[in-house]
Amino acid sequence: MEVKTSLLDNMIGVGDMVLLEPLSEDSFLENLKKRFDHSEIYTYIGSVVISMNPYRSLPIYTPDKVEEYRNRNFYELSPHIYALADEAYRSLRDQDKDQCILITGESGAGKTEASKLVMSYVAAVCGKGQEVNKVKEQLLQSNPVLEAFGNAKTVRNDNSSRFGKYMDIEFDFKGDPLGGVISNYLLEKSRVVKQPRGERNFHVFYQLLSGASDDTLKKLRLHRDVSKYNYLSLDSAVVSGLDDAANFRTVRNAMQIVGFMEDEVQSVLQLVAAVLKLGNIEFKPESRCNGTDESRIKDKNDLKEMCELLGIEQSVLERAFSYRTVEAKLEKVSTTLNVAQAYYARDALAKNLYSRLFTWLVTRINESIKAQTKTRHKVMGVLDIYGFEIFEDNSFEQFIINYCNEKLQQIFIELTLREEQEEYVREGIEWTNIEYFNNAVICDLIENNKNGILAMLDEECLRPGTVTDETFLDKLNTVCAEHQHFESRLSKNSKFLTDHSLPHNCFRIQHYAGKVLYRVEGFMDKNNDLLYRDLSQAMYKANHSLIKQLFPEGNPAKVNLKRPPTAGFQFRASVSTLMKNLQTKNPNYIRCIKPNDKKAPHIFTESLIRHQVRYLGLMENVRVRRAGYAFRQTYEPCLERYKMLCKRTWPHWRGRAREGVEVLMADLQVPAEEFSYGRSKIFIRNPRTLFFLEERRRQCLQDLATLIQKIYRGWKCRSHFLLLKKSQIVVAAWYRRYAQQKKYQRIKSATTVVQSYARGWQARKLLRELKYQKRCEEAATTIAAYWHGTQARMELRRLKQEARSKHAVTVIWAYWQGTKARRELRRLKEEARRKHAVAVIWAYWQGLKVRREYRKFFRAHAGKKIYDFTIQRIMQKYFLGLRNNLPSMSPIDKNWPARTYLFLDGAHAELRRIFHLWRCKKYRSQFTEERKAVYEEKLEASEIFKDKKALYPSSVSQPFKGDYLEISKNPKYQKLNNAVDEKVLLADVVNKINRANGKGTARIFLPTKKSVVLADQKTGQVKASVPLPDLTSVSVSTQSDGFFALKLKEGSASAVKGDFLLSSEHLIEIITKLHRIGATATDREQLSIDISDEFLVQFKQDKVCVKFVQGAPKNGNSVSCKRKNNRLLEVSVPATA
Ligand SMILES: Nc1ncnc2c1ncn2[C@@H]1O[C@H](COP(=O)(O)OP(=O)(O)OP(=O)(O)O)[C@@H](O)[C@H]1O
Ligand SMILES: [Mg+2]
Repeated sequence: MEVKTSLLDNMIGVGDMVLLEPLSEDSFLENLKKRFDHSEIYTYIGSVVISMNPYRSLPIYTPDKVEEYRNRNFYELSPHIYALADEAYRSLRDQDKDQCILITGESGAGKTEASKLVMSYVAAVCGKGQEVNKVKEQLLQSNPVLEAFGNAKTVRNDNSSRFGKYMDIEFDFKGDPLGGVISNYLLEKSRVVKQPRGERNFHVFYQLLSGASDDTLKKLRLHRDVSKYNYLSLDSAVVSGLDDAANFRTVRNAMQIVGFMEDEVQSVLQLVAAVLKLGNIEFKPESRCNGTDESRIKDKNDLKEMCELLGIEQSVLERAFSYRTVEAKLEKVSTTLNVAQAYYARDALAKNLYSRLFTWLVTRINESIKAQTKTRHKVMGVLDIYGFEIFEDNSFEQFIINYCNEKLQQIFIELTLREEQEEYVREGIEWTNIEYFNNAVICDLIENNKNGILAMLDEECLRPGTVTDETFLDKLNTVCAEHQHFESRLSKNSKFLTDHSLPHNCFRIQHYAGKVLYRVEGFMDKNNDLLYRDLSQAMYKANHSLIKQLFPEGNPAKVNLKRPPTAGFQFRASVSTLMKNLQTKNPNYIRCIKPNDKKAPHIFTESLIRHQVRYLGLMENVRVRRAGYAFRQTYEPCLERYKMLCKRTWPHWRGRAREGVEVLMADLQVPAEEFSYGRSKIFIRNPRTLFFLEERRRQCLQDLATLIQKIYRGWKCRSHFLLLKKSQIVVAAWYRRYAQQKKYQRIKSATTVVQSYARGWQARKLLRELKYQKRCEEAATTIAAYWHGTQARMELRRLKQEARSKHAVTVIWAYWQGTKARRELRRLKEEARRKHAVAVIWAYWQGLKVRREYRKFFRAHAGKKIYDFTIQRIMQKYFLGLRNNLPSMSPIDKNWPARTYLFLDGAHAELRRIFHLWRCKKYRSQFTEERKAVYEEKLEASEIFKDKKALYPSSVSQPFKGDYLEISKNPKYQKLNNAVDEKVLLADVVNKINRANGKGTARIFLPTKKSVVLADQKTGQVKASVPLPDLTSVSVSTQSDGFFALKLKEGSASAVKGDFLLSSEHLIEIITKLHRIGATATDREQLSIDISDEFLVQFKQDKVCVKFVQGAPKNGNSVSCKRKNNRLLEVSVPATA
C-alpha cells in the first residue's frame, strides 16, 4: 500500500510560509533560518518556491530524489525545486498548458543553478529514446557554452550571468522534448574592455589561455600568460574552485555535442584571440602641421597577428583606426582620429566583435536545437536573467538589468494576484482585494514612451547638436523631477538639493529592491553603441566567413544611412516581447535568496536576507495568499487525511468527497467563517484551523495507533493462544497415543510375564508330577533292582561261598596237585637232567667222535662258503646291475652309476676307472694312424706347454693342420716344393723379426725331418735352410704371443748369420712338431725348449736380450716389438691377448 505523506509531515519549521503563525517578518526570517540551518534550502509560499543558495553541494539532487518527486503532488513531499519542476511538467504534459519557470533573485542567489536543476529534472523524467536523448543532451550542453562566453566572475558571484537568457523547451503531445529556442538579452559587453576591480573578463578568455594545447595557442598566436593581455584583469585571474583548463575541455566537448563543426569552433576561437590581440594595440599621439592631433599605432606586431588571424589586410585596419568617415546624403567627410578616439574605436570594435560573436553563438545553438517537426508544440520556458544589481558604481548596464528585474517583479505581482484571484473565482469563493506594493509606477518611470528615462535617453541620443551625458541628466532633472521614485541633486525637486549622498552627475531610482545610484557617464555612448563605419567595413573585408557574417552593415553595397536602433530601445522591445510571451504561459516562480555576501556556506546574514525578503515582496506574497485563504486542498486528499477525526467518515466514507468533508467539518465544529467550500477544494482561512486539524489528526493517529496496536496485540496474542491450543491438542494427542502405547506395552509385557510365570508354574507342576511319576517308577525299579540285587547278591554270595568253598578245595587240591606235580616235576627234571646230561654227554661224546671223524668233510668251511656264496650273490647282483646301467662309450661322459654297497666303494671307483680306460682303449682302437699321430702331437704339445705358456689353451681346440699353404697342390710353391726333397711336415707363413727394428718380414716356414727351410713368401725362393742338428734350442715366452727364437749350434755353418727370431700364429704346432722331429731323431740331441719371458738371441755377433712385457692393449690387440737399444728388444704383449 502506498503511504500517503504530506509536506506537513516531519517538517523543520514550516514548509509553507502560508501556514506560518504568527505571520511577521521576524517569524518569516526565523523560519527561513531554522530551515536553512537544517539544510532545508527550499520553502514554499503556496506554489512559489523560495530557494536559499546553500553555497555547497547538497545530496538532494540524486537520481533517487528525482524518482521520489516524480509524479507526486506538490504538497505531498517536503519542499523541493523538483516538486515545482514536476508540477510544471505534469500540467504541461497532462493539461496541455504551456509553462514558464520564472527564476528571480539578485546576483549570486542561485538562479542559473536553479534553471539548470529544473532542466535536468525535466530531462530525467521526460521520455527516453535515442533521438529524444540527443535533444536532451543538446539542450543541456548549450548551458556550458553560453556560460563560458556570457558568464564572468563579479564581486557578487564567481559565475555571474552577464546576459539574460530565456529558453523555450518544446515538447510533443507525449511530453518528449523536441527541441528548444534560446533568447538572449543584452550582454554586458563593456566587460570585454574593462572590468571593475576584483572582477574578471568573460570566462572564455581565461579558459582558452589555460586549457588550450600549445599547438592551438600557437595557431591562434597567443601566449599562455594572462598578464600579456591588456583586456584581462590580473588581480583576480584565478578564481578558487574554478578550473579554467577543465572547463575549456567541457566547453569544447559541449560545442561538439551541440553540433558545432570543427571549423566553426576554430573560427570562434580565432575571434576570441582577435579580441585579446585588439586589446594589445596601443596608440601614440602625433601632431600634424595643421595643428590637429593624430594617432599612430605603437607596435604593429599585434595588429599584424590579428589581421593574419582574421584575414584582414593590415593597412585597411590601420587606416580604420586612424580615420573616421562620416557619410551624409551625398557627402563623405573623413577626419583623423586622435589617440583617445583611436582607443575608443578599438574598444568599440572589441565590444562589438565579442557581443556579435555571442549573439551568433546563440543563433547557431538555436539552429542545432530547434525542433525538427512542424507539429504544435507544448512549451516550457525557463527564464534565467541577470539578477538585481547594486554596485558602487552603477552604469547603463545596471540600469538595464534592474529595469528587467522590475518588469519581472511586475509580472510576478500581476500573475500571482491574478492566479489567486482566478482560483477564487473558479472555485466560487468571495474575494476581497489586498494591499501590496505595485512596482508598475517604477516600470513606468523607466519605460514610458513619452517621458520615461529610456525614451529621454533615446531622444537625447538622436538630438542634433552637442549632446553629452550631462545634457541627458539635465533632461531627466526636468522631466522626472516630480516622480516619487526619481532622485537627483539638481532636479527641480528641492528636497534633494542638500542630499550629499547624491553626486551631481548621478541620478537615483528607488527600485522595488532598493535605491540604486546611477552615474550618467557613458549612458549616451552605451545607448548609441556606436561603431565607426570604417571599422565595420574593414571587418567586412576580412577573408573570414564568420567575421563577414558578424558585420553585415560593413557591406558597401548596403550602406544604410539610418541610425541603428539604440541599445535601450532594443532592450525595451525585447523585454516587452518577453513579458507578452510570459503572460501567455502558466507561471511557476522560483525566488532565489542569497544568504550572505561571502559566497560561503552556513552563513545566514539576516539583514541581507531581510532586505531581499522585503524587495521580493515575499511577505506580501504570503499575505495575499492568506488574505483569502491560507490553505486549500481538493476534497479527496483532504477527506483522506482527516477522515479519522469523525466517526461517520472513519474508516470509509461511501458518499462524495465534498459531503464527507462537510460532515467532517460539522462534526469537528469548526466555525463556519474559518473555511469555505469551493467547487473542488476546501479553503481554510486561518492556519490555526489547519493546525487544529493537524493536531487533532496527530492525537487521533496516536489513538488509532494505540487501537491498531491493541487490536494487533490482541490478534497476535489470540493467534498465539490458538496456535498454542492447537499445538497443545496435537501434542496431547500424540502424548496420549504414546502413553497408551507405553501402557499397552507394559500390560502386554506384564501379561506375558504373568503368563510365563503361570505357564512356568504349570509346567513345573507338571514336571514335578512327571518327575514324581518317573521317580516313583525309578524307585520301584530301584527297589526291584535292589531287591533283585539283594537277591542276586545273596545268591551270588551263596554261589560265591559255594564257589569259594569249591575253589578252596580246588586250590588246595591244586596246591596239593601242584606240590605233587612240582615234586614230580622236580623229580622228573632231575631225572630228565640227569638223562639229558647223560644224553648230552653222550651226544658230546658221539659228537666228539663224529667230529673227530668227519671234521675234515663236514662243516669246517661251511661259514666261509655261505659267506662266499652270499658275497658272490651280492657281487653278481652288483655286476648285473652295473652292466645294465653302464654309461655311454664316450670318453668324456662323466656319468657313473651310484655305488650300492659301502664295502664296494673301492671296487666301484676302480671299476669306473677300468671302464673309463677300457672305453678310452676302445675309442683309441678306432683311430687311424694319422689321427693317432695328431693326438700324439696334441699330447706332446700339452706336455710341453700346458700351464707354462698362456697361448696354449687357445691352441687346444685348433687342429694341427700342418700344411697350411697346401704347398704340394699350390702351383705357386711348385718350385719350393721341388727344392725341398724331404716330406714337408709343416708349411706356414711366419714373420721373421728384423733384428734392427723389430719389424717382421713374411717367410714361408717349412720344417722337414732333416732341416728347417725359410723361403720368401712371394717368390718361394729359399732364404735359409738349417739342418736340424744345428738347431739346439727354441725359446718362447710364457705369454700369449707367437714369438719364438730358433737357436743354432755355435760354430755351425747355419749359425753364421745368427739365430732366428720368428713369430707365428701356429707357434704351439710348430714347436711341438720341431720337438717331435727331435724326439724321433737318433743321431742328435733332443731339442730343448726354454719357456721364459727373457732370453738371449745371438744376432750375428751381438747377443740381444728379448724381453716380454705386458703392455696396455694398443693398436687393437696386436703384439708389438721394438728395439729398445743395442741389447734389448722389447716385445709388448697385451694383457688380454
Ligand atoms: N542549489 C545550489 N546548490 C549548491 N550551490 C548553489 C546552488 N545554487 C547556487 N549555488 C552556488 O551559488 C553560485 C551562484 O549561483 P548562480 O550562478 O546560479 O547565481 P545567479 O543567481 O545566476 O547569479 P547571477 O545573477 O549573477 O547570474 C553558484 O556558482 C553555486 O556555487
Ligand atoms: Mg546566473
